[in-house]
Amino acid sequence: MLIILDYGSQYSHLIARRVRECGIYSEVLDGHVSLDKVLEKKPTAIILSGGPSSVYEKDAPKCDKAILELGVPVLGVCYGMQMIADFSGAIVKHYSKREYGRTEISIDDFSDLFFGIDTKTTVWMSHGDSVEALPAGYVKLAHSENTPFVSIANKEKKIYGVQFHPEVSHSTMGMQIIRNFLFEICKLQKDWDMKDFIKQEIEDIRKVVGKEKVLLGLSGGVDSMTAAVLLHEAIGDQLICMFIDQGFMRKNEAEQIVATVNNHFNIHLIHVDAKERFFKAVKGVTDPEEKRKKIGNEFVRVFETEVAKVAKDVKFLAQGTLYPDIIESATTGVSKNAVKIKTHHNVGGLPDDIEFKIVEPFKKLFKDEVRRVGLELGMPEKIVFRHPFPGPGLAIRIIGEIDPERVRVLQEADDIVMDEIKKAGLYREVWQSFAVLLPIKTVGVMGDKRTYSHTIAVRAVSSQDAMTANWTHLPYDVLENISSRIINEIPEINRVVYDITSKPPSTIEWE
Ligand code: XMP
Repeated sequence: MLIILDYGSQYSHLIARRVRECGIYSEVLDGHVSLDKVLEKKPTAIILSGGPSSVYEKDAPKCDKAILELGVPVLGVCYGMQMIADFSGAIVKHYSKREYGRTEISIDDFSDLFFGIDTKTTVWMSHGDSVEALPAGYVKLAHSENTPFVSIANKEKKIYGVQFHPEVSHSTMGMQIIRNFLFEICKLQKDWDMKDFIKQEIEDIRKVVGKEKVLLGLSGGVDSMTAAVLLHEAIGDQLICMFIDQGFMRKNEAEQIVATVNNHFNIHLIHVDAKERFFKAVKGVTDPEEKRKKIGNEFVRVFETEVAKVAKDVKFLAQGTLYPDIIESATTGVSKNAVKIKTHHNVGGLPDDIEFKIVEPFKKLFKDEVRRVGLELGMPEKIVFRHPFPGPGLAIRIIGEIDPERVRVLQEADDIVMDEIKKAGLYREVWQSFAVLLPIKTVGVMGDKRTYSHTIAVRAVSSQDAMTANWTHLPYDVLENISSRIINEIPEINRVVYDITSKPPSTIEWE
């Protein structure tokens, strides 16, 4: 296992994903963990991530210096490299010529880390500090116009540093540099693939669950659907799935979930039609947080009632939790991304008096790995590559009050957006695309008649993990088709606008 020590870079998880893409299992640990915790993992290599701090600040986070003496290869990325230089006695200084963004670097040493890389290559830089002089025992591997030491190495100890971010796709040969570190320098063997993962996970599930029954809440998203198929593969009829239809799904989506799980995979499904309860719960609610809370609470109540009906038979509750959800800070015990922007809800809470043991088959996986598991298990691409969908569903895409009629109008608009994005061959490229129903009415003219109707906002974003997102530059003809179809096919709408804000400063969903 390769360990990534995280010093707060927004790219630390991306490093873990890139390493795994190379066939090496990797985990992210908080940069403050003790040496013992690192040793417990028996790492075959260590990567020190980037971060916003400066090594000369009083409280700058640092790893135990002994990490450089373990005999385990180390790669420091950005702040990680500065930490290595600092530990090795070099001077790290704030530089007046700070580098940010795409930067051309020149390679001075092609023998290992930069093996097979062009003499000049573009990388993604983001630093204000620089190493001033080589630490003792180190050689220079690369430089740039403004930075004399873009990459350094102590080859004897197998300690390497890069001032840039090889994990970011803007670093054109970044993957090659990561592969060189893993295979040329660390001499690691590829041993992480989804076939092996599935085999191992099935064995583990059988061992843990024995002859007991397992309950899994289905949301229709790829994580819980894939968990259902994997668990079914492992324990067959011992798996019971529960799908609570809140009435806020996309057009025909509830029917599709039922058909896929029940008919296609032959999995035991409890389908709870709770539409009326949910519409009642959100009646008259316009505040986004209140809406989310009402839906979340209602979900818990319905879940409680339904679970109670089967609880005496069921000992385990399965969840499609992913690795990014469980990565916690060693110092605070809470996820670093835990600042509350919106109240999220997925499966909902559990009644106090029912105790389940939890099964989380994907707690070590990233989303793209779950998708690969899904494909290996023979799931249809339509489900495996489905865009993420929020727990409260269309309810948080109807700004203002929700009622069945508004849901129907939004379902129609959303369906047109989906359809046109798919027809244009953009569905897999776009992270999420959807329609939002706005509560304002505006004036229009149709067939010589004045209209006064609602507006649909179309949103499409590109993202790696939803933490940040760019609005997608959809081709004008796709936007044109979406707009004219919505106006022509939905009488309640007379205006369509396109959302051109990125996250931050906006969020992906409107509520
Ligand atoms: P925001 O709007 O916060 O959304 O930029 C980030 C990502 O999370 C999805 N999302 C949710 N997913 N339960 C979920 O499972 C929720 O309550 C929820 N709210 C937002 C959103 O669709 C985007 O992919």
